Amino acid sequence: MDQVQDAYTEWAAGYDHFAKKNIGIIKNYPVILGMIEKEPRKDRGLELGCGTGLLTVKLSKYCPEIIGLDFSEPMLQEARKKSSLGAKMSFQTGDITKSLPFNNDFFDFVVASLVFNHIENIEPIVNEIQRVLKIGGILVFDEADMTPRTPEQLKHKLRVAELDPLLKRRDEGIGIWFGRPLDKVKSLLERAGFKVEDVAKTVVDKELEPIVENYQHHKGRVFSLIIKARKI
Ligand SMILES: C[S@@+](CC[C@H](N)C(=O)[O-])C[C@H]1O[C@@H](n2cnc3c(N)ncnc32)[C@H](O)[C@@H]1O
Repeated sequence: MDQVQDAYTEWAAGYDHFAKKNIGIIKNYPVILGMIEKEPRKDRGLELGCGTGLLTVKLSKYCPEIIGLDFSEPMLQEARKKSSLGAKMSFQTGDITKSLPFNNDFFDFVVASLVFNHIENIEPIVNEIQRVLKIGGILVFDEADMTPRTPEQLKHKLRVAELDPLLKRRDEGIGIWFGRPLDKVKSLLERAGFKVEDVAKTVVDKELEPIVENYQHHKGRVFSLIIKARKI
């Protein structure tokens, strides 16, 4: 089995319990939701790598029909336990690095949170997203910040202990996380037919002090870039 898939299978039952300590959930979700909320057209949305559906439920507040796609069946089992008020929310099993199982020009928005950092080459995914988005629709996703770490940061890595199923693999040298510089992301989006409209940053700030180990070495550092791109 794919090592990432395997890690989330191990983690599925405990993932939501960890949400209060998940930096991406704490910091990135509000930015992503703000970008989606502002969109005038959001009748149908897709969340790639939806996991246990924590963000899907929040997105369903703005969107009457939302589909979550993920390749970890145990994560999706947790997602399916969640309901949403009024919205049509459904979850499908699928690998987002393969063709997306949707028609052309189908969604008003696509969101991918805390998932592209598990994928080495996002270009084929971005091309598929472009296909399934309506013209004028938006893609919102987060990317790891690639600013080189200081020697102290490399020595005292930013970590939250309960990430174990992932950290265990990283510490064994297994490729679990990937990132790319912003200019590379921008140019592949433009090649695919997107216009980048916004790049927001989330930062390791005081709110995270009780949560992350080695906070003092990482305070003020950018955690993620949140990118909003429109299909033109
Ligand atoms: C850190 S979790 C994020 C879940 C959710 N987006 C959230 O914000 O809580 C990453 C998710 O991406 C999924 N994932 C990773 N690679 C994938 C792939 N190639 N296809 C589908 N899902 C994938 C994992 O199974 C996992 O549920």
